Order: sequence, then C-alpha cells, then structure tokens
Amino acid sequence: MMRSLILLSQLFFYLLLFLYSQLTSSSSSVPLCSQDQSFALLQFKQLFSFSNDVSFNCDEVGLHYYPKMESWKEGTDCCSWDGVTCDRMKGDVIGLDLSCSWLCGTIPFNSSLFLLPHLQWLNLASNNFNYSSISSRFGQFARLKHLDLSHSMFSGKVPLEISQLSQLASLDLSDYNSYLKLEASVVKRLVQNLTKLRELHLENVEMSSISLSSFMNLSSALTSITLNNCLLRGKLPDHIFRLPNLRELILTDNPELTWSFPMVNWSTPLRYLDVSRTIYSGVLPKSIGKMKFIQHLFMSECKFNGSIPAWLGNLTQLIDLDLSINNFSGEMPSSISNLFVLSYFDLRSNNIQGALPIWLGNLTRVTEIFFGTNNFTGQIPSSLSNLKNLTFLGLRYNNIGGRIPNCFANLTKLTAIHLSYNQLTGQFAEFQFSDSLEFLSLDNNRLYGSIPKSISNLVNLSFLDISSNDLNGTVDFNMFKKLKTLLYLNFRANLLHGVLPVPPSSMRNFLISNNRLSGEIPSSICNVTSIEILDISYNSLSGTIPSCLGNFSNSLVVMDLRRNNIYGTMPETFAEGNTLRTLVFNGNQLEGLLPKSLVNCKYLEVLDIGNNKINDSFPYWLEDLPVLQVLILRSNKFNGQLDNFKTKSSFSLLRIIDLSHNEFSGSLPTNFFKGLKAIKTTKESEGEVKYMEQGYYQDSVIVAMKGQSFVLERILTIFTTIDLSSNKFHGKIPEVIGMLNFLRGLNLSHNRLIGHIPSSLGLLSVLESLDLSSNRLNGEIPMQLTSLTFLAVLNLSQNQLMGPIPQGKQFGTFQNNSYGGNLGLCGFPLSKNCGIDERPPPPIFQEDNNPMFMSGFGWEAVLLGYGCGLVFGIAMGYFMFKIGKPQCLLGLIEENRPRKLKMPSNQRSRGSRNYSI
Ligand SMILES: *[C@@H]1O[C@H](CO)[C@@H](O)[C@H](O)[C@H]1NC(C)=O
Ligand SMILES: *[C@@H]1O[C@H](CO)[C@@H](O)[C@H](O)[C@H]1NC(C)=O
Ligand SMILES: *[C@@H]1O[C@H](CO)[C@@H](O)[C@H](O)[C@H]1NC(C)=O
Ligand SMILES: *[C@@H]1O[C@H](CO)[C@@H](O)[C@H](O)[C@H]1NC(C)=O
Ligand SMILES: *[C@@H]1O[C@H](CO)[C@@H](O)[C@H](O)[C@H]1NC(C)=O
Ligand SMILES: *[C@@H]1O[C@H](CO)[C@@H](O)[C@H](O)[C@H]1NC(C)=O
Ligand SMILES: *[C@@H]1O[C@H](CO)[C@@H](O)[C@H](O)[C@H]1NC(C)=O
Repeated sequence: MMRSLILLSQLFFYLLLFLYSQLTSSSSSVPLCSQDQSFALLQFKQLFSFSNDVSFNCDEVGLHYYPKMESWKEGTDCCSWDGVTCDRMKGDVIGLDLSCSWLCGTIPFNSSLFLLPHLQWLNLASNNFNYSSISSRFGQFARLKHLDLSHSMFSGKVPLEISQLSQLASLDLSDYNSYLKLEASVVKRLVQNLTKLRELHLENVEMSSISLSSFMNLSSALTSITLNNCLLRGKLPDHIFRLPNLRELILTDNPELTWSFPMVNWSTPLRYLDVSRTIYSGVLPKSIGKMKFIQHLFMSECKFNGSIPAWLGNLTQLIDLDLSINNFSGEMPSSISNLFVLSYFDLRSNNIQGALPIWLGNLTRVTEIFFGTNNFTGQIPSSLSNLKNLTFLGLRYNNIGGRIPNCFANLTKLTAIHLSYNQLTGQFAEFQFSDSLEFLSLDNNRLYGSIPKSISNLVNLSFLDISSNDLNGTVDFNMFKKLKTLLYLNFRANLLHGVLPVPPSSMRNFLISNNRLSGEIPSSICNVTSIEILDISYNSLSGTIPSCLGNFSNSLVVMDLRRNNIYGTMPETFAEGNTLRTLVFNGNQLEGLLPKSLVNCKYLEVLDIGNNKINDSFPYWLEDLPVLQVLILRSNKFNGQLDNFKTKSSFSLLRIIDLSHNEFSGSLPTNFFKGLKAIKTTKESEGEVKYMEQGYYQDSVIVAMKGQSFVLERILTIFTTIDLSSNKFHGKIPEVIGMLNFLRGLNLSHNRLIGHIPSSLGLLSVLESLDLSSNRLNGEIPMQLTSLTFLAVLNLSQNQLMGPIPQGKQFGTFQNNSYGGNLGLCGFPLSKNCGIDERPPPPIFQEDNNPMFMSGFGWEAVLLGYGCGLVFGIAMGYFMFKIGKPQCLLGLIEENRPRKLKMPSNQRSRGSRNYSI
C-alpha cells in the first residue's frame, strides 16, 4: 500500500516538475545548459548500466519505467534531456528526475552528480543502487527542497550530512527492505534542522536505536509522516498527534511502539491514520471524537480493550474504519450509523456482542463488512438490502441465528458472503442470493432441506461451502451444469443421499464425504479432468472402482474413498507423472494384490489401504516412492516375512507405519528400522511444525495409540508411530529400535516375541506410548525405561517378565493393568512386594483424575493448555478430534483474505498538496 502511495506522490511531483519545465523552457531555442553541467550529467550517466531486471512496480501507479538517460547525448541542450529541469533564466540544472530509469550502479563520493549545486529537486527513486550506501555528499545540495531516494536499494547508515539540507520540504528514504539505518544522532539533528520539512517518508528504515523523545522537535510544517516498520521502540510522545498541519500519519508495524491519543486540548487535521500492529495501552478515549477530518482510520492489532466509544460516531468523514484483531467488547454504539460515507468496515476478531443492528442498513455507502469472529447474536437484519454497493459480507464465527433473510437477492455487487459457524437455520431452498455471488460459505450452521435446483442460477459461483449442516435429499446431477466457474464445492457432513453427483468438469476441489450417498461411483467422474481433491469418504458407496480412476486427472492430488462399501480390486492405472499425494482406500472391501502401478505415484506422501482384504506380500517396491511418509496396511491379509529389506532400506521419510492385524511372520525387520531416517533424525525444529494438508483437505488417519484408536484429524509433520501388532512376528526385539530417537508410539503387541526388553528402548526420549503386551518376553523390565519422561501409556501385560518394576518418574503413574499376567513381577503398583522395604514415590501425574487424559489427550496437553493453531496442535498431543474443533483452526477464508489495499482516493491529502516552486 505504502509503495503505491509513495509512487503516486511521486507522480504528482513529476507532473509539477513537468509543468514547471514547460513554463521555463518552452519559448527558448538557444541552448541553456552550461558546458560544465552538461558534462557533469554525462559523466554521471557513465556510472550506470541500464537494466530492467529488478522489477520495481513503477507501472502500478502509471509511472513509466524506461531508461530516461538514453536521451542524454553530447552536443544537445541538456535542458531538453529527459528528466532534467533547468532554470529558465540562468540555465542552471535545478531538477533531476531519474526515478524508474533502470539505473544500475553506485554513486561514489567523487561522482559528478555533486557538481550540480543548483539542484532543488532530486529524485532517484526506484532504481538499483546495488546496496551501496548513501554518500555524505548528498548533504551538499544546499538548495535542495525535495529528495527522493526511495525503493532504490541503498543500504547502510544514512549519513549525518543529510541533516544539513535545511531547505528540504520532502524527504523520502523508504525502501522495500530494511537495509537502511537511521541512527539516533542523525534523527536528532534531522528533526532539529529540517524545519521546513513537510513530508517525511521512512518506511522500512531501521530506527531501533533512536529515542522517541527526539520526535518532540518535529517540524510543525509536517503534513505527512510515514514510519511503518522502522523498529521504533518505546513510548511515542503525543506531540506527533498534535502537529498542527499533519494530515497523514503512518506508524504501522512497529510492534514495540506504544502510543496514546492526546486526552485534552486536541484538534487535528488528520485525514489518514494507520497505527496497525503497534501497541495502544487501554481503552479508546473520548478524544478520538476530535479527529473531525479523519477519513481513513486503521487500528488493527493494537491491543485495544473496552468498548467501542460512541464518540466514533462523530468521525463523520470516515471512509475506512479498521478496528480488527483487538479485544473490543460490548455492543457497537448506534452512533456509528452516522458514518454515512463509510465504505470499509472491519471489526474482525474482537469480542463484540449484541444483535446485528438494523441501522447497519443506514450505512448505504458501505462496500465491505468484516464482522467475523465476534459474538454477534440475533438475526441478519433485512435492512442490509439497502446496501446496494456491498461487495463483501463477512460474519463468520458469530452466534447469529434465525433464517437468512432474502435481503441479498437484489444486491447486485455482492460477490462474497461468509456466514460459516453461526446458528443459522431454515430451509436452504428458501434463500435467495444475487447471481453476482462468487463466494458463498454457509458451512457449520443448521440449515436443512434439500439443495435446490435454483442454486444453478448462481452462475458466477466459484466457491460454495455448505458442509456441516443438516441438508438432506439427493443432489441432482444436472444441478451444476450451468456453474461453469465453480472450482470448490464442499458438501461434507450433511445427510445427502442418492447417487454420487458428478461435479462440473471445471471442479478442482470436490468434498462430499460424511453423507449417505449410495450406489456405484459413476465412471463419468473421470470427465472431471482438472480435479485436485476428490473426497467421497464416509458414505455408503458400493460397487467397484472405475478403472479410469487411477488416471483421469493430471492434477489429482488427493483421492479419499475411505469407509465405503467398495469391493473389487484397486485401480491398476496410476500413470507415470501423476501428482497424487494422498491416496486413501481404508475401510472398504478391496481384495487382490496391491497394484504395482503405484510406483508411478512419485509424490505420494500418504498411502492408506487399511481395513480391506488385500492379500499380498509386503510391497518392498514402495521404497521407490521418495516422499512416502504414511503407510497404513492395517487389517488386511498381508503375509510373508519382512526380511528382504536391503541393508540400506530407503523408506527414509516414512514416519507413520501401521502393518498391524495382518499375517506377517518371521523376525522383526532390523534393516527396515535402520532405514527410517525421518524417525531417527528430525530436521524440523518445533517452530516449523505444521499439519499435512492440501488446500481445504486435511490429511487424517486412524491410529491406535495409548491403547485406543484415534482419528488423527490432522497430522502434524512431527508425529511418528510404528504399529506391527497382531501379526505372527517371532524372535527378539532388535536393539536398533533404540535408534529411532523421535518415535512417539511403538506397538509390538500380540506377536510371538521372545527374549528381553532391550534396554536401548530407554533412548526413545519422546516415546509416549509403548505396547509390548501379549508376547513371550522374559527377564526384567530394564531400569532405562524410567528415562522415558513422556511415556503416558505402558502396556507390558501378558508376558513372562519378572523381577522388580522400575520405580520413579513416569513409572509412578502406571497402574496394575500395565503389568497383568506377568507372574514374576513385583513392586509398585502391584501388591506383591519384592522383599525389600520400598515405599513407592508419589505419582507425578494422576491420570485418573484428568478428564483430558481420559478422552485420549497426551498428558502434555494438560501442561501446555489451550492455544490456537500450532500451539494447540502440539498441546493436544497431536490429536484433533471430530468433536469440539476449535474455531481458530479451520480454513480461515475470511481471515486469510488480505486487507484490501487502500489506494489513495481523490479526497486524500496527498492529492491536494502543492509544492512551492
Ligand atoms: C543546519 O542547517 C544549517 C543551514 O541552515 C547548516 O549550516 C548546519 O550545518 C546544519 N546543522 C546540522 C547539524 O546539520
Ligand atoms: C461529538 O458530537 C457531539 C454532537 O455533535 C458533541 O456534542 C460532542 O462534543 C462531540 N464529541 C467530541 C469528542 O467531539
Ligand atoms: C436509519 O435510517 C432511517 C431511515 O432513513 C432512520 O429513520 C433511522 O433513524 C436511522 N437509524 C439510525 C440509528 O440512524
Ligand atoms: C455506489 O457506487 C457507485 C459507483 O461506485 C456510486 O456512484 C454510488 O454513489 C454508490 N452508491 C452509494 C449509495 O454510495
Ligand atoms: C456471547 O454472547 C452471549 C449472549 O449475549 C453470552 O451469553 C456469551 O457468554 C458470549 N460469549 C462470549 C464468548 O463472550
Ligand atoms: C428485488 O427487486 C425487484 C425488482 O426491482 C423487486 O420486485 C423485489 O421485490 C426485490 N426483492 C427483494 C427481496 O427486495
Ligand atoms: C429432509 O429434512 C426435512 C426437514 O428436516 C424433512 O422434513 C424431510 O422429510 C427430509 N427428507 C428426506 C428425504 O429425508
């Protein structure tokens, strides 16, 4: 945004320069330019090569981006050269505008540029000075009024000499990156000496060392100040708000800057104020009502609390109002209905309460309403039908109930309605929307009835989410024929029945899981050739899989058919070059062999064919899939030994492995364990932990861990588990398992394992669940297991273990049932003591008392508490359940939408400034 503003301001500047040069040089035909100045300019030209590699967005605001210096030729009048302005009387070069001129090079101390002593304007913006520093000789232009070095890749310290430019009316050192630094001493001098300064733009200039008290001396001539992302720290003197001519102040993105509005004796001509992502301490004071002229007010993420003061209604010139991501509570004051020119209204992510007011319909100029993530109640007022210019209505995550009034039908500019996560009810078929709609999300409400044919009238729709409602009835095949631009369709978690509707061929994401669809998968689904995500899981689909399904879309990334009644064999047709990342057939009745063409799925990360009837030997050839992370073969008829792994097995990224409930036999696969690099070492520091997901699809698997099966609704990329239980493995547990440093779950139960529990298991320092039950293990429980401080579940029952149970740490938390059926064990918690007088240490964690644990969360969840996003994921012990999804974790369409860039409007101060030439 700032860039556009600044470039626009440049545009005005050049326009004036141009007019001036027309005035000054038009009538004369005699060359004006003196030899020495002409020479100096030509010499200056020599410093540069001309290259447009660096893409400055000069076009963005209509500035031409071309090598102006090309017109600079020896023997011609330098006053006629592009970018050069001369004094009409004396012929002195007084203005140089080389902005957006492809300059690539540096300006050394002895540059001939500094031989132009009459310069009053100098503009070198939007070039590439290759991270050189700003020469101190810029301070020698004693007559300079306007200096613009913005967006030109200067770096280093801004020289003190800049503060000698006491005639300066505008100074712009902004840049895209923070390579320039202003030191405390320079700022102090600058502020003292540049008493005529009206515009000061220092976007992204690092000023972390300055003392904010130096701003006490800011020139009262200032009309515009830009200080966003300057690393300003401390408390800003309110003097800056009192500057008598200040129309525009931008302090955005200084997260350690604290400020407050003046409380008394304040009047201000401010038009534009952006303080987003700075710290305001406390409640908004009455005095905010003093900003009589304010048109654009952005105060997002400032830690405001308390209620929105009624005085805001006095700011009747407001066009943009952004109070998002604060902690405002209470109701919206009705005085806001006075803001009759308001266009952009953003209250997202606060805790505003009360019914959505009817007077919202009085804000007739409003174009965008962002009220998502608050606590609005009541119904949607039908007065919204007055908002003829409304384009965006965001009300997600509130408590709005009732039916959706038919106030949207005639709002022909409306392109997006987001009403997800409310309590809306009513028959979906009754709602009317304008056909201008492109985004409609109504998911997670209580809408019922069938999906009406009329939905096909919304011909501009590209995004439709009505998941998690109570919609029933069948979905008409033909319904979507007219919706040619529809890309995303989510019907998940409703009560839809009938056959699987085939989406339009434009479709990218099609999610209709968790319904009651039946019948076969029509082979016409293979006509949807652009599809990326196909999720038809958790239905009652039956029949066989159309063979084309392995190879119908070049862009298919996710295919999820889990939990249906599909039988027959898996498709054989996975083609070379496919982009599949997730393939899930879990919970069907597929039989036969695993298709070898799966080796063509080079991007496959998740392969889940658990709970079928596949009868095959272990698919060693899957090791050719370089990014496979999740392999689930659970509950099939896989058989044979696992001893054919190469010494250097290459399942190197595999980290969730479930081979349980099959008929594998032989000894445990030592070489396989050795190859599991992703579990041995993890590159991911906690800061990089994320979920496996693809667009709106979340990878999920069912894992058995901690004694129960869990739906892992989202898979954290640091989650690791190996489950080889319920097979016929025999022999000893290999010591090498101890090398799997980052293993969190290990289940070898229900096999025929013999020998001792290897003490190397004590090296699995993040292990949370260990199940070795129902084997023939003997010997003592190694003491080393007490170093497993994350262990929440231990099951060693039904073995032939003996001797004392280790004591201390997590071992204080396990109950009798961890050890049942081992007649030779003694010590706490068993009643049989070992003959030595030992008193068990008190348990450090009493799992029985903790409901969170009982519902399956890891004990660390209790310690870390709740948060959102990542922290939440980690805190919840990597589990996300179907129930009680926290709001903040869901795909935040609205929240992710970038704030509309505010282009300066005609009313803006920048537009009306004039330079005294
Ligand atoms: C302040 O400006 C004057 C010219 O008006 C100049 O002589 C002086 O050196 C400047 N002071 C500083 C500290 O730059
Ligand atoms: C707001 O406007 C009302 C009525 O116009 C006026 O009485 C009040 O003083 C104003 N408040 C402020 C803080 O300017
Ligand atoms: C909204 O507009 C209506 C009709 O113009 C008017 O009667 C009503 O008082 C206004 N409401 C508020 C709160 O300003
Ligand atoms: C709606 O927008 C149009 C065009 O942008 C404008 O001419 C009209 O005045 C606006 N209507 C209202 C009520 O603001
Ligand atoms: C939301 O508002 C309702 C009623 O106005 C209140 O009972 C509830 O506690 C509020 N919720 C939050 C999170 O503030
Ligand atoms: C929409 O406009 C039409 C014609 O202008 C009118 O007949 C109809 O009642 C309006 N519908 C709503 C819901 O306002
Ligand atoms: C769909 O739901 C509505 C309302 O809940 C109910 O009246 C109707 O019988 C249902 N239809 C079917 C086919 O289940």
